[in-house]
Amino acid sequence: MALDPATTSTTFDRYIEELRALWKDSNDANLPFKVKAAMERMLASTSPDDPWMAEIIRDAQPSRELYRDPEYGFIQMGHVHPQGHGNLPHDHGPCWVVYGAYQGLTEISLYERTDDGKNAEKADLHTREVHKLGPGVVYPYLTGQIHSTHAAETPAVVFRFLSADLNKILRRRYNAETGEVSLIEPQP
Ligand SMILES: [Fe+2]
Repeated sequence: MALDPATTSTTFDRYIEELRALWKDSNDANLPFKVKAAMERMLASTSPDDPWMAEIIRDAQPSRELYRDPEYGFIQMGHVHPQGHGNLPHDHGPCWVVYGAYQGLTEISLYERTDDGKNAEKADLHTREVHKLGPGVVYPYLTGQIHSTHAAETPAVVFRFLSADLNKILRRRYNAETGEVSLIEPQP
């Protein structure tokens, strides 16, 4: 559910305006890092009492679409993750995302494949790095980067920017223990 326009504050509106301005040059290789900077500014300038942020925190929905751009197709998601929330390692196919935390602590593990990548059904994953996303911390995750998320201190209020609708693309999920690779098919 999108945010109620009546309660959308200027910090969210300004952020979306910034994203739209950035998207005019959508071939810019630095776009994920520019979105990161814009999200950092948005997080730093928003008070938990600002009506739009207060609504997200109060409703505590695990996942909601806050904004979908009618022209460029990018999406801004908002998440409030409870204790124990996490997912298996996955990639986002040809898309990239930007994760930023507002409250709580979310750990995002990054993996590298230690096999030759030739077997489509099996992958050997090795944890390369763990990003700790406390309040105001934002990281981009680029095309093909395998990662998983874990809500370490909750409720974890997380903003997730998607360069395109992930439900419309083929992605991969990985079982780090068995190496099994499963496909996440696009939704019709
Ligand atoms: Fe992800």
